[in-house]
Amino acid sequence: MKKNLFIALEGIDGSGKSTQIKLLEQRLTDAGHKVYTTFEPTDGMIGSVLRSILKGSIKADHRTIAGLFLADRLDHLLNEETGLVKKMKEGYTVITDRYYFSSYAYHATHMDMDWVIAANKLCAEALRPDINLFIDVSPEISMQRINANRVGTELFENIDSLRAVREKYFEAFTKLKDDEHIFITNGDRTVAAIADELWEKVSSLL
Ligand code: ADP
Ligand code: TYD
Repeated sequence: MKKNLFIALEGIDGSGKSTQIKLLEQRLTDAGHKVYTTFEPTDGMIGSVLRSILKGSIKADHRTIAGLFLADRLDHLLNEETGLVKKMKEGYTVITDRYYFSSYAYHATHMDMDWVIAANKLCAEALRPDINLFIDVSPEISMQRINANRVGTELFENIDSLRAVREKYFEAFTKLKDDEHIFITNGDRTVAAIADELWEKVSSLL
């Protein structure tokens, strides 16, 4: 069996990342892997500030938000007790709900993507995903899911924003196609069909 993998799930809000992570975790566990699932923004100190910003209870400029996401990610990776670099050394297969492609897509709607990519070089050097799995859902379907399941919406949860973010994801995938392993799945399908395709891809790396 191959070494433990670092897997990042990406997609616009409501694309089905958490649903798919649970299924992927189960399949990896059944195949005998130690799995650690995690997410960004984290539930740490900086992640908590970000949640308040996303909900609108703290106001911040988009450049400040981009900086905070970078700091949150560095702590997610490098924290001496809970950091992902340590988890990988301990042999866990790590699945993260969002990683640096989220920053490239969400922040590039307001600022230069190249700056965001350059700033995240520290993270890429610390831990580059073995695979970035992108669940591609149309913004219309995503908004329907968000509206059906939640009271209130967050900063980026409107159709224009999600359209712009989806476009930026594809721009980032093109820009980084030689450096990153990216797999795109059509997320406008059933949960089971998406899960099967993601498992086929991930198991091919094991
Ligand atoms: P994310 O973590 O990307 O925000 P979730 O996994 O929480 O997305 O999914 C958002 C909502 O859409 C949830 O209510 C979930 O049950 C539903 N959902 C997820 N995947 C699908 C799918 N393929 N088809 C229909 N509904 C889905
Ligand atoms: P998340 O809780 O994953 O939302 P959802 O489950 O709806 O996908 O992410 C919260 C929000 O944070 C989401 O709108 C994307 C945004 N975000 C950024 O703007 N930059 C980042 O670097 C990350 C990781 C997330």
